[in-house]
Amino acid sequence: MKLFDVYPLNDIVIDSALGSYVWDDKGQQYLDMYGGHAVISIGHTNPHYVKRLEDQLHKVGFYSNSIKIPLQVQLAEKLGKVSGKEDYQLFLCSSGAEANENALKLASFYNGRKKVIAFKKAFHGRTSLAVAATDNPTIVAPVNQTDNIIFLPFNDEAALEEAFRNNDISSVIIEGIQGVGGINVAADSFLQKIRSLCDAYNAVFIADSVQCGYGRSGKFYAHDFSAVHADIYSMAKGMGNGFPVAGISIAPKIQPKHFMLGTTFGGNHLACAAALAVLEIIEQDDLMKNAEMIGNYLIEELKKLPLIKEVRGRGLMIGIELPEELKEVKKNLLFKHKIFTGEAKPNVIRLLPALNITKTEADIFLEAIKEELETPSAS
Ligand SMILES: Cc1ncc(COP(=O)(O)O)c(C=O)c1O
Repeated sequence: MKLFDVYPLNDIVIDSALGSYVWDDKGQQYLDMYGGHAVISIGHTNPHYVKRLEDQLHKVGFYSNSIKIPLQVQLAEKLGKVSGKEDYQLFLCSSGAEANENALKLASFYNGRKKVIAFKKAFHGRTSLAVAATDNPTIVAPVNQTDNIIFLPFNDEAALEEAFRNNDISSVIIEGIQGVGGINVAADSFLQKIRSLCDAYNAVFIADSVQCGYGRSGKFYAHDFSAVHADIYSMAKGMGNGFPVAGISIAPKIQPKHFMLGTTFGGNHLACAAALAVLEIIEQDDLMKNAEMIGNYLIEELKKLPLIKEVRGRGLMIGIELPEELKEVKKNLLFKHKIFTGEAKPNVIRLLPALNITKTEADIFLEAIKEELETPSAS
C-alpha cells in the first residue's frame, strides 16, 4: 500500500528533536519557528513531558470513558485554573475539528437553532460542520455544503448586527487570531460586540482557540484580550505538545445530558498525562509571559526590516506579509538557513514556535530573514 498523497512534502526526514531544534536523518540541525504547525507548545521532548507519558504508559495507556478516569478530573481542574475559567466544564476529544464539531453541536442543542455565523478567511477544520464553517470552498465536499452557515466579513460590526437581526442564530464561531487565513487579529471591540449580541439573542459564542489558544498569544486564550468570556472555547494543537488531545471548555450555563456528546479516544489516560504535563510546564516556566516577551520582541524587530508589507499577530503567533516578488524567502529560510516556518497563502510567513523559545533563537531567525530581505537570493 502507498500513502494517499494529500500533502505536498519537503524532502526532509526529522529524526530527533529537543526544545526549539529538530535534526534530520543526516544530522542536519534546524531551528523550529513553526512548532510543527503550532503544536509544539513546551518544546520538543521536554523531559518532564517525556517522563509523565512514559510513567503513564507503564501504568495504563487507555481505558474507555465508561469508567472513572481521575486524570480527566485533574486535567479539568488544572485547565480551569491556568485558563482562568474555573467554573467552566471540560469535554475531551482528540482533534481540533472534533472540538469544533462538538462546540457547534452543543450550541445547537442548547438553543435548538441551526444557523451559525462564521467569518471570511476562517479555518475551523476538515470535518462535517467544521469544514462547512471554513471559508475555503476547495476543501468543502458537496456532502458538507449547508446553508446553515452565514459567512460575514471579519471585524465588521454592522454586518454582524444585521445578520443577528435577520436570522435565528445558534452560534458565532471565531478564531481570536485567524491562523490559516493569514494571522488576522480579531478586534477587541468586535469580540465584545459578539458577546453582547450573543447575550441579547441567547446565541452561543464559540472561541476557536485550536491554533491561537493555549498561551500562544501571551494570554491563555487570544480572545482574552477583549476581556469578555466566550461560552465555549475549543482547543487542540498546543494542548498535548504533539500527543493528539483536544477539548472544549464550556460555560456553566450550558448543562450536559448523558450521551449528548461522546468519543472513544477522547480523554484517555495517556492524553490526559500529556495535557497535564503541558499545563504544568506552562505554569512552572511562566511560558505565557515568555510568549508575550519574545513575541513582542520579534514583532518590534520585524517591523524595522525593509520590504515587509505588514507584520501582524500577538505573542508567538506572528504573520509576516511579504510582497509577491519575495515569495522565495520562506523556501530560503528552510533550505539555506535551516529554519522551519509556516505559511499562509498567498505570501505570509507564519511564526508559531514553542512558547519557551529563547531570545537567542529569536535572534537567529531575525538575522536570517534580515539577510534574505537585504540580499534576496535563490535557494
Ligand atoms: C483555528 C483552527 N481550528 C481548527 C483546526 C482543525 O484542527 P485539526 O487539524 O486538529 O482537526 C485548525 C487546524 O489547523 C485550526 O487552525
